[in-house]
Amino acid sequence: MARSRLASPGQDMLRVSSLSKRYKGGEDALRGVTFDVPAGQVVALIGPSGSGKSTLIRCINRLVTPTKGRVELDDTDITRLGGRGLRRARRLMGMIFQEYALVERLTVMENVLSGRLGYVPFWRSFFRRFPQSDVDKAFALLERVGLSEHVGKRASDLSGGQRQRVGIARALEQDPALLLVDEPTASLDPKTARQIMRLVCEVCRERDLPAIISMHDVPLAKMFADRIIGLRAGEIVFDGPPAELDKAVLTEIYGEEDWTQIHPEHEVRPEESAEDRHAHEERMAGLR
Ligand SMILES: Nc1ncnc2c1ncn2[C@@H]1O[C@H](COP(=O)(O)OP(=O)(O)OP(=O)(O)O)[C@@H](O)[C@H]1O
Ligand SMILES: [Mg+2]
Repeated sequence: MARSRLASPGQDMLRVSSLSKRYKGGEDALRGVTFDVPAGQVVALIGPSGSGKSTLIRCINRLVTPTKGRVELDDTDITRLGGRGLRRARRLMGMIFQEYALVERLTVMENVLSGRLGYVPFWRSFFRRFPQSDVDKAFALLERVGLSEHVGKRASDLSGGQRQRVGIARALEQDPALLLVDEPTASLDPKTARQIMRLVCEVCRERDLPAIISMHDVPLAKMFADRIIGLRAGEIVFDGPPAELDKAVLTEIYGEEDWTQIHPEHEVRPEESAEDRHAHEERMAGLR
């Protein structure tokens, strides 16, 4: 199916260099972030709340304008584009959001077809008349994400997992060269979250599509991603394979506090007394 149309083998698909973002309030949300993502690589972006994950994703697709630095997709500098050039570049970036961002009153099929809106002329989109090839592609994608029985349902009648599957199909319908995903599983139960992550990673590998997926669930990130980038206060403090994400690195990213969530062996067992727990917490906080 739709392989990247732009990159030649071995070429970097996405190149982010010295990217910084200072919001109007004066906050430095990103401080000189640099990394490349080759075709087909699935990158999990982790880091505490406020570390800049969403800002990074939004700077890449220019929902947010970076203060400094460059974002290049197949050698086109996105940070310098405006107007038609920017619209064309945005079409190449499929976005999947935590809140699903579906049009509630439209059907599953119509929501998926809306992924083509950047391509079809305005009158066609206004009357919702899409070329047959787009409709065929949408059917195939809905089958791929396991929704072929729900094509005519309204988005408002779907479960959270089904809605996220529509989001994935819609992003793929636009034939992206890069997938940007902001917390795809944050509103899902653990089993559905795992299924959705697996699906996103599988479709990326099938299409040689690079992806950046921000998430809070570290075990899930380790399970599915090829590479993990850890952000802390707007800077990359880890960039490597999941196997290298050990305790020291997690402390570097999250500080001491999150240990119990991330490492089951540190968990306080229910039968422990309050005193034990207190001692444990002090140990974790480095007080003992
Ligand atoms: N539109 C904005 N205006 C001003 N400051 C912002 C804006 N958006 C984000 N920030 C600030 O930039 C920093 C990074 O925020 P960002 O949303 O990128 O973090 P995040 O890692 O995605 O967090 P979370 O895990 O909670 O989603 C935060 O301190 C935040 O308050
Ligand atoms: Mg965020």
